[in-house]
Amino acid sequence: MLTNPKMPLDILQGEAEKSAGEDMQTSIFAVAKEFSDFMASTLGPQSLHKMIVEQDRWAYIVTSDGETILQRFDLMQFKAKHPVARLMVELSKAQDYDLGDGTTSTVVLAGHLLKEAEKLVLMGLHPNTIAQGYKVALKQALVYAKELASPTTRDNLLRVAMTALDTKYTSVSKEQLSKMVVEAIMRVSNDGKERADPKDVHLVRRKGTGVLHSTLYHGFIVEKKMLDDSMPERMENAKVAVIDVPLTVKRYAGIFGDNPLHEVEIKDVDGLKAHREEEKAILRDMFVKLRDVGADCVISRKLIDHRIGRWMAKEGIIGIQAIPTKDDLKRLSKAVGARIISDLETIREEDLGFADSIEEKRYPDKETLIFIRNKHANTVTILLRGGAHHVISEVERGMKDAIHATSNALNGGWILPAGGACEVAIAERLRRYALTLSDKRQLAVQAFADALEGIPRTLITNSGMDQVKILMDLRRTQREKGPSYGFDANIREIRDMMEAGIIEPLSLKESVYKGAFETADTLLRSESVIYGRVFESRIKSELKKKRER
Ligand SMILES: Nc1ncnc2c1ncn2[C@@H]1O[C@H](COP(=O)(O)OP(=O)(O)OP(=O)(O)O)[C@@H](O)[C@H]1O
Ligand SMILES: [Mg+2]
Repeated sequence: MLTNPKMPLDILQGEAEKSAGEDMQTSIFAVAKEFSDFMASTLGPQSLHKMIVEQDRWAYIVTSDGETILQRFDLMQFKAKHPVARLMVELSKAQDYDLGDGTTSTVVLAGHLLKEAEKLVLMGLHPNTIAQGYKVALKQALVYAKELASPTTRDNLLRVAMTALDTKYTSVSKEQLSKMVVEAIMRVSNDGKERADPKDVHLVRRKGTGVLHSTLYHGFIVEKKMLDDSMPERMENAKVAVIDVPLTVKRYAGIFGDNPLHEVEIKDVDGLKAHREEEKAILRDMFVKLRDVGADCVISRKLIDHRIGRWMAKEGIIGIQAIPTKDDLKRLSKAVGARIISDLETIREEDLGFADSIEEKRYPDKETLIFIRNKHANTVTILLRGGAHHVISEVERGMKDAIHATSNALNGGWILPAGGACEVAIAERLRRYALTLSDKRQLAVQAFADALEGIPRTLITNSGMDQVKILMDLRRTQREKGPSYGFDANIREIRDMMEAGIIEPLSLKESVYKGAFETADTLLRSESVIYGRVFESRIKSELKKKRER
C-alpha cells in the first residue's frame, strides 16, 4: 500500500491551485481560440486596426502590427493574464524578434491548429497522437513550401518590399518607399554580395510635409545639436573622433552625481586662481590631443566641458555631446568607420572615422544632425516625414516589415506567392500525403492542412468576402492553373500572385509554420497548470544567496 488511506490525497500545500485534465484542455482551446480570433482581424492588407489607449498617459496607438499589439499586452497588462495567452504572446514575440515580421500569422495559425486539435480530441484522439501528427505534417509542409518557392531576383525584391509595406500602409507613396527600402538593403549588403543585416537600416521620423518627402541617407542621423551655435552648420570631408569618456574635469562620482571625488583646500584668491588654471590646463590638454590628431568633429557619449566647446568652435571643430545610448554611439562609429575611444591618451589618427558631410538640419519636432558617408557606407538611414502621429507611426511599422522582408528574401534566396496561395497549395498536398499514412496521425495531418487554410480564410474574411465560396474557387483555380494563384485582398479577386508580384520570403513562411507548430505543440502537451504565489522575500533571499556563491 503506497498511501495511508487516512491521509488526504491533496499533494499541493498552501494556496496553490491546480487545473488539470479535461478542464485544463478546455481552457487551453478556449483561450487559444479567443486570442487568435482577437488577432485575426489585423491580418493582411485589408485588415482592421486596433486602437490601443494608454489611459494613464492619454496616449493612443492605432495599428494592425502584431508585435506592437502584443507588446502592449505586456506593458498594459490587459487580458494576457491567463497563462495560455501569456505563452502565446511570448512565443509569437519570439517570431518577430527572429525575423521582424509574421507575428499575426503565427498567432492565427497556432489558434487554428488548436481549434482543429480540439475537434480531434472530442473524437477521442490523444493529444500526444495529434502532436506527433502535426510534427509529421510540419516536416512535409516545409518540404512543399520549398518546392513551391522561386529564387529571389533583383527585380522581385522590390515586389517583396511592396507586399510587406502594403500590409500596413497603402498609399501612392508605397512604390517610392519600397524603392528606398531596396536601395537601403542593397547598400548594406554590398550590392547583394554579403548578408544584409536589417539593423544597419535605421528609421527616423520627423514631423511635417508628407510621406512623399521622405529621404534615404547613406549614413546616420543623431538627434542632437552642435555644442555651440558658432560651430559650422555644415562641414565636408570631416575626420570624426567618437569617444566614450567625459571631456571634463571629474569632480563628482558619476556624471550627475553629487559625491565629491576629492577635496581641495583653497586658502586665498591666488589659490583659487591657481586651481582654476590647473583645471584649464587639463582641459586644454584634452582639446589639444583631439585637435592635433586631426579631428574635425568630436562626438562624445559623455559631457564636454564648455571651455573645450569654445576652443573647438574657435578652431572650426564640431563638438557633439551626450549621445543618448551606447548603441547609438556604436552605430554612429560604424557609420563613419571610427574606433570608439575610451582612453584619450591612446587616440591615434587611424582611430578617426570619415564623413563626406555633416549637416545640422532643422525640423519642427527634433534636432537633427546628418552624417553622410558615400563610399564604403555600411549604415543607411531612412528619414520618414509625415503629419499625423498615428499615420507616421504605422508607416514606420510598415517600413520595418518591408526592411525585414527584403533582407529575409535576399539572405534566404527564395520567395513564395502571398495571399494564401502557398497555404492552399501546401494543404492540398498534405491531404494527399495524409492518405499514405495508415495510423491515426492521418487525421492530424489532415487537421494541419485545414488549419493552414485558416490563413487564406482570414485574409478573405478581413477583406469582407465570403470565405467559404472564395476558398472553394481558389482550390479549383489552383488545380486548373497552378499553385501560384492566391487571393488578392486589395482587388478582392483570385489572381496569379507571382505574376502580380505579390510575394513574400520563404524563410518568413517557414518560421511562421514552425513557430505556430511549437506553440500548439507546447499547449497540446500541457496537462495541468499549477497556480501559486511567489513570495517576494523568498526571491530576494534566493538572489542574495546566488550572488554570494
Ligand atoms: N495583396 C494581398 N492580398 C492578400 N493577402 C496578402 C496580400 N499581401 C500580403 N498578404 C498576406 O498578408 C499576410 C501578412 O499580413 P500581416 O503583415 O498583417 O501579418 P504578419 O506578417 O503575420 O504579422 P505582422 O506584420 O503584424 O507581424 C500574409 O499571409 C500575406 O500572404
Ligand atoms: Mg507582416
